[in-house]
Amino acid sequence: MSYATALRCRKCGHEYPLKPLNVCNFCLSPLEVIYDYKSMTKAISQEKLAEGPFTMWRYKDMLPVESDAVDIGTGFTSLVKADNLGRELGLDHLYIKNDGLNPTFSFKDRVVSVAMTKAREFGFDTVACASTGNLAASVAAHAAKAKLKAYVFVPASVETGKLIGAAIYNPVLITVDGNYDDVNRLCRQLVEKYNWGFININLRPYYAEGSKTLSYEVAEQLGWRAPDCVIAPAASGLLFTRIWKGLDELAMMRLIEPVNTHMFVCQATGCSPIVSAFQAGSLHVNPVEPSTIAQSIAIGNPADGYYALRVARQSGGGASAVTDEEAIAGMKLLSQTEGIFTEAVGGVVIGALKKLVASKVIKKNEVTVAFITGAGPKTQDIVADTVQPFNIRPTLESLEEVLNVPA
Ligand SMILES: Cc1ncc(COP(=O)(O)O)c(C=O)c1O
Ligand SMILES: [Zn+2]
Repeated sequence: MSYATALRCRKCGHEYPLKPLNVCNFCLSPLEVIYDYKSMTKAISQEKLAEGPFTMWRYKDMLPVESDAVDIGTGFTSLVKADNLGRELGLDHLYIKNDGLNPTFSFKDRVVSVAMTKAREFGFDTVACASTGNLAASVAAHAAKAKLKAYVFVPASVETGKLIGAAIYNPVLITVDGNYDDVNRLCRQLVEKYNWGFININLRPYYAEGSKTLSYEVAEQLGWRAPDCVIAPAASGLLFTRIWKGLDELAMMRLIEPVNTHMFVCQATGCSPIVSAFQAGSLHVNPVEPSTIAQSIAIGNPADGYYALRVARQSGGGASAVTDEEAIAGMKLLSQTEGIFTEAVGGVVIGALKKLVASKVIKKNEVTVAFITGAGPKTQDIVADTVQPFNIRPTLESLEEVLNVPA
């Protein structure tokens, strides 16, 4: 049984039934799932949650689904105490939430698992999505598991690793000559025309809720407490808002103490409309034309930018952007200190964290969680320069020549 009661407009508060709907008819603002928190608080305890499976579905009662989940084994990813990286950056209590460990190698499995379950509940036989790459893979994988037909739309410039990562599940893969914002615009037209469950359009309110499980897990893994600081990347900004909502809900349900987490959002300088607005002291996002190697977060017109900015501001957090070079350096630093190979977006997170600590915005003694949302092999070309092997003949002499060891 789900405690979700309705969809509510984030701006004017108008309520709608739990249907495949994502914008308010009156003010065109995004809709959000609301719950009967009173009953939920009564029914859910730390002990009860601890009995659940070691996947995101241990928090099923806090998600808006009625039926058995479309589950490919997502969630309960490692929260690693990153002492080596912490020492390098100047943090005493740094943790990495490694969500590249999910079945399709990004946090998108969380959001898709919820949205795909709803797609099946609503009776859709076809699902679709507009994607920068990771979402396409996750939708295709979950559609295979749910036996639904999938159409996935990506910009034609998407990395080969991401195309293969989606194609292997045999969806209808459509590459579009244009950037993500063009793909998204096209998909918004398709929603009107076809009776498909668009995972991140008409199913978006449900999709959004999947990301809350990231903060449920982090709080539980920290021994039922919220971090002092969180740093997470933004494309549309939705993930960032839901990490906050997850923490807020836990406090509301008295599963953790009242939350005083400072939320830091990061982007690549080649596509940083949210960070630029924050730095200008504004809640208004000016769209940009993306140009960055961090293609997964290359959204120039972020749908949830305003809400992400509000979270960063109201939580006493901040925003930081890094160049592509800094992102690559961040990827290498994370690999070489913690043994975690992340995609370009993770490099943005580590690069931005480095800056925020260097400028003492995030302080040495604060419990800080960096969200690594995707795994490295999908964007491995950008770090191909690390491959510098010593080539030898299969003899001891040849090896010792290379090692410069006297024979
Ligand atoms: C690896 C990765 N991290 C973060 C994001 C940001 O997600 P959101 O659009 O919710 O801000 C994305 C989006 O595609 C992504 O692929
Ligand atoms: Zn409204």
